[in-house]
Amino acid sequence: MKKEKIVLAYSGGLDTSVAIKWLADKYNAEIVTLIADVGQGGDLEKVRAKALKVGAVKSILADVKEEFASQYILPALKANAVYEGSYFLATALSRPLIAKVLVEVAHQENATAIAHGCTGKGNDQVRFEVSVRALDPSLKIIAPAREWDFTRSSAIEYAKTHGIPLDGIVAKKTYSIDQNLWGRSIECGVLEDAWIEPPDDVYEMTTSPLAASNTPAYVTIDFEKGKPVAINGEAMDFLELINKLNAIAGANGVGRVDHVENRLVGIKSREIYESPAAAVLFDAHNALESLVLTRDTSHFKKLIEQKYSEMVYFGLWYSPLREAIDAFVTSTQKMVTGQVRMKLYKGSCTLAGRKSQFSLYDNKLATYEAGDTFNHKAAEGFIQLWGLGVQTYGTMLRKTAAEKNCTCKGKKQKCSVTD
Ligand code: ARG
Repeated sequence: MKKEKIVLAYSGGLDTSVAIKWLADKYNAEIVTLIADVGQGGDLEKVRAKALKVGAVKSILADVKEEFASQYILPALKANAVYEGSYFLATALSRPLIAKVLVEVAHQENATAIAHGCTGKGNDQVRFEVSVRALDPSLKIIAPAREWDFTRSSAIEYAKTHGIPLDGIVAKKTYSIDQNLWGRSIECGVLEDAWIEPPDDVYEMTTSPLAASNTPAYVTIDFEKGKPVAINGEAMDFLELINKLNAIAGANGVGRVDHVENRLVGIKSREIYESPAAAVLFDAHNALESLVLTRDTSHFKKLIEQKYSEMVYFGLWYSPLREAIDAFVTSTQKMVTGQVRMKLYKGSCTLAGRKSQFSLYDNKLATYEAGDTFNHKAAEGFIQLWGLGVQTYGTMLRKTAAEKNCTCKGKKQKCSVTD
């Protein structure tokens, strides 16, 4: 009988390497591995070859960096998606894309199942599985790490017994790390104590602010309809721009975040993030929006942004609501064209200037100097009507208190009669 095929999301680490052998044995299946290159760095060709050594029948390396930047990161940037005000969602945004490629490979290979290496405690299992279900509910989903009961040392033993190369894998792992173009997420080890300051070895994308240059670096970012298109006047595609900005901002110690976050599965976890480019682009994008969006659009968009970031975090990328919000956000970006200047200095990222041909900031209306065109007289009538509701309410309170003979005659804000 022909063996079933399983497509496994492969990282080259201990768990997914053990999973190749474990899945093949347990399910009597052929394993096709997929490494999605989302900008995690490292020698991915070597990782691809390792899967074959461990026993995969086919090992695929798919470069999806461009798609990740343009179809996942860019909409999130336009939507100012930041979970709990701290996390730029680097890991969360990559999962639906990896799930999509898993499904595509499963179709190409006539596979019946997909598998991933996530544990039962995290958000990523949810993101992978909800995405796969949305894209092809007929595919089976297997999560070996939820099924087996390996400890780290018994997994190493299993690897040794089955000739799985350990390539420097050690019994005590310092941190759990996920990395891509948009940032790096680091947890576990000493970081599990939320009182402990992150040791220096946690960071890779950012120089310590203490060691960073004593001279500020200025970067000017050009936006077109919400999309960053140039740095310091040099036009480049979005992927290249992210890489370049990661280097510049990272060298100035920008983009470090220490956050205790609320996971979807109900637990709080402490995570360190590094996202230099994201930190700069979010501030810059927000600064430009504040210049060109009307107050109503801006305030309404803030409500939507919170929802959007939750949907990304909670694994609901492939949902009609996310698509509908994207349509709204795209419409708000029509005028988000202009330039923003940011100052990067020893870990801080501050706004140094912004301008746009669509600016709604009208100096003649705003100025307190000569040349003011604002109609001061009109303010009087405006205030009368704007405050009419609360004025009427206040009059009624005073009248009621007086009628009830309250000693304060309703003059106190907290009157015993009306409270
Ligand atoms: N907490 C982040 C999220 O749920 C990152 C998860 C992966 N982190 C890690 N260090 N392996 O999106």
